[in-house]
Parts: sequence; C-alpha cells; structure tokens
Amino acid sequence: MIGFGNVGKRLIHLLSDEHPDHPRLADLHCKFTGIFTKHHGYTQNSNGIDLFGIEKNFEKLNSNIPDEKILQAISNLEYDMLVELSELSIEQKGEPAISFVKAALQRSKHVVTANKGPAAFAYREINELALKNNCRFLCESAVMDGTPVFSLARSGLLGTEIKAVSGILNTTTNFVLSKLESGSSFSEAIQFAQKLGFAEADPSYDLDGWDASAKTAVLANILMDGTITPFDVWRTGIIDLNNEMIANAARNKNRFKLICRAEKSGTNISAKVAPELLPYDHPFASVNGTDSILKIETDLMGPIFIRQENPTLNDTAYGVLNDLLTIAMESN
Ligand SMILES: NC(=O)c1ccc[n+]([C@@H]2O[C@H](COP(=O)([O-])OP(=O)(O)OC[C@H]3O[C@@H](n4cnc5c(N)ncnc54)[C@H](OP(=O)(O)O)[C@@H]3O)[C@@H](O)[C@H]2O)c1
Repeated sequence: MIGFGNVGKRLIHLLSDEHPDHPRLADLHCKFTGIFTKHHGYTQNSNGIDLFGIEKNFEKLNSNIPDEKILQAISNLEYDMLVELSELSIEQKGEPAISFVKAALQRSKHVVTANKGPAAFAYREINELALKNNCRFLCESAVMDGTPVFSLARSGLLGTEIKAVSGILNTTTNFVLSKLESGSSFSEAIQFAQKLGFAEADPSYDLDGWDASAKTAVLANILMDGTITPFDVWRTGIIDLNNEMIANAARNKNRFKLICRAEKSGTNISAKVAPELLPYDHPFASVNGTDSILKIETDLMGPIFIRQENPTLNDTAYGVLNDLLTIAMESN
C-alpha cells in the first residue's frame, strides 16, 4: 500500500479490528507486505504486517522517503495487488502516482487506487498496460467516494455507449453553496467544512474547480473512452459567487450548483465544470450539503441517476475494498 492517510487507515481498520463485524467478509484474508508513506516512514514484512496497532510497526525516518525508493519497493517486493492511496497532484499531472501504478502493472500486479490522478491524466495508457500484462486497474473510489459508478457501468451497462455524464461531484463546493444559501459568509462556510474534516487546509483545489475537473476527466476517460486531462476541462470555480447572487437566485426559486459535464460527439469529448443556475425542481437542485449526484446518458439505456448521501471515509475505504474483492473474485 502506498499512502497511509485517512483512507488507508480506515481500510486497515475494516480489515483488522472491524473485520469480525462484517460476516460477509469472513473468508477474506488480506496480507499486507509493505506500507509506504511520504513523511511518516514505512513498514515491511514479507510474512504479512501485523495490522493490529499497526502504527507501532512503522520505521520512522529522519527524512522524507524519495519516490525512487517507493518505486524500488513496488518493483521488488512480493505482492499480488498494489493499493495506491497517495494524493492527487494537479501540478505534477498525476505523478508520482502514475509511475507507481505503471511500475506495478509492468510486473503484472493488479492496481487499486482512490487517487484521481492516474485515471485523470493517463487512463488509456494505464489500462492498455494492464490489459497487456493480464491484470486490472480499478479506481471505484476516485469519483463519488466508493459509490458504485464504474462497477455499475462495467456490469449493468454492457453494450451501451455512454454519451454524456453530468452531476455534482465535489463535496466541499456543494456544502459551501448550501451554507451560503442559509446565510453564512464564504469564510464561515469554508471554516465549517474544514472543522467537519472534508475541506483541505488549502481549499483552493475544490473552490477553483480542480477536484471537480479531475473527476470529470476520470469519468470521461473510463466511461467514454476519452483521453482528456483536467487541463482539457473548461473550468470555472465558485469563488466569484456571493451571498447576494445566491439570495437573488433563491427569490426566483433557483439555486447555484457546481456542475460537471462531459459529452461525447463522435470521438470528441467536451468537458466543463462551472456553476449553473438551476430551478428548484431540477433533479440536481435538491442535492445539498455533502451529497452528490451523477447522471449517465447512454444510447440504449437510461438516463440513470446515481445519488450519494452524506459520504463518509467508510464509503471511500469500502470502494477500495470492493475493487480488491472484484479482482480477487476474477482471479479465482
Ligand atoms: N478522504 C476521502 O474521503 C477520499 C475520498 C475519495 C478519494 N480520496 C483519494 O484517496 C487518496 C487518499 O486520500 P486520504 O484522505 O487518505 O489522503 P491523506 O490522508 O492526505 O493521505 C495521503 C497519504 O499519501 C501519502 N503520500 C503522499 N505522497 C506520497 C508519495 N509521493 N509517496 C508515498 N506516499 C505518499 C501521505 O504520506 P505522508 O502523510 O507521510 O505525507 C499519506 O500517507 C487521495 O488521492 C484522495 O484524493 C479520498
């Protein structure tokens, strides 16, 4: 496992002390042979790391672990699947996660990730590498925190061509817009989101629409066979909205929402993230707070709406677990 932050820790708890609470996981026995972080050291054991009280097993280093050392571990350690849970870097165009993912796939090791970077910047190349090496690259938790989107499309939309996706996919901006509507100032709304733990200390990735653009690129690349990156998404964040605009909209029974859209025409994909003014009776308008929604339009079926309410870390960790189980079941 690369990255041992919120999601990694939640996943380990699900697989260790919380394992007995989930009877349908009784036959699942995962062994972790290496867990690597950037600043908090690493732990390694070819017989399997003791997952109970795992923090005590970490070798704390005096300096950051260079990406090259992690690449070496990915290339040399014994394992069946890489669980990649490091952070998205827009500036580094999805690196170093893309290199981590490719290094595992080159060894025919399956990869599961919650990180948007690899699929947002290099999905076609990664998927081709996975197919060539007879292994899988799955990233259910990269969009909508583990709610089934890609697995639904894989098994429930066989033979369809997905023509368009649209939705509300960024928790922080949706929460902030809901708070502005109920009278909070921008800074109060952001502070509240930070206190609840889902907005970053630097929330600009969310407010400027980068997170939503990365999710839109992931959807376009996986569901619509695209080769776009977040830089190809026409992007406007919510920072130019204010209480007065939101109150005026409410007087006319309208609401601003940050909407992600990707549409396919021939082989061309156009993608956009921008605030849109929606009437109260629009299906997206009632998606408030931290909820999210995705509409999928196809040539044969639908439209289909997937709605997620109050996502938690548990959902994200479950999405990773579902990918692990999918690969394990396919391999048996
Ligand atoms: N949190 C959510 O609800 C959620 C939902 C959906 C998707 N995701 C995605 O899931 C991934 C993990 O999220 P998180 O909340 O667990 O993030 P997090 O708490 O910030 O943890 C990130 C982890 O990645 C490690 N890391 C960063 N760069 C690295 C590098 N170059 N090499 C090795 N390790 C590196 C960090 O190490 P240090 O701590 O030592 O720096 C940390 O352990 C992210 O890509 C995120 O976007 C998260």
